Amino acid sequence: MERNNILAPSILSADFNRLGDDIRAVTDAGAEYLHIDVMDGMFVPSVSFGMPVIASIRKETSCFFDVHLMMEQPERYIQAFADCGADGITVHAEASTHLHRTLQAIHACGVRAGVALNPATPLSALDYVLDDVDMVLIMTVNPGFGGQKYIPQMTEKIRSLRSIAQERGLPLDIEVDGGINASTIRTVLEAGANICVAGSAVFSNDRAENVKRFLDVMKEYTAW
Ligand code: DX5
Ligand code: ZN
Repeated sequence: MERNNILAPSILSADFNRLGDDIRAVTDAGAEYLHIDVMDGMFVPSVSFGMPVIASIRKETSCFFDVHLMMEQPERYIQAFADCGADGITVHAEASTHLHRTLQAIHACGVRAGVALNPATPLSALDYVLDDVDMVLIMTVNPGFGGQKYIPQMTEKIRSLRSIAQERGLPLDIEVDGGINASTIRTVLEAGANICVAGSAVFSNDRAENVKRFLDVMKEYTAW
């Protein structure tokens, strides 16, 4: 089936004082996903926001809510995030001891299941769960903050994962997150990503203009 490359603006870099306006600006401009970063102050140093914020913005838009849980033992909150409006839930392989069970729990809630890998975590962490996930999120920075620089070694990791997925015949979504801008986006699309998160590069200056520029580049690449 023909599919498009997808832009997922990360609201972590939005202006929270006018969050609804920021979300409308990027979805009206054509972004299909909203990337929603939940941080617990344990798995990553920072704390962001949680269920009440997600439930509140859910009333304003029908776009896909791509919830990235940067938290320890995310299995404690799967049902809660599904209930407040997540369409996809991504947990970190490093944070969930019984990862396979957690992925089953996500699917049992009727939402798409993703696994995220920190930059230092090898792809082999996915060997026995790849058939049970809809998406793999390759962190292209160390998670915790927006506005960091893309780690160049991640390009090879994306490329390897795409070739593993192709060998296994899996229509896997590969999402990249961190340091994606006008130049790194070409690198990751070429390497095998089909969903690109962008925070600071979208939510600065003219949001709609930024989204349009990203989408124009993404259309140049056939989706994997
Ligand atoms: C980082 C978060 C990212 C962040 C990306 O830990 O997972 O989603 O918002 O921000 P940029 O695009 O600015 O690197
Ligand atoms: Zn994220």
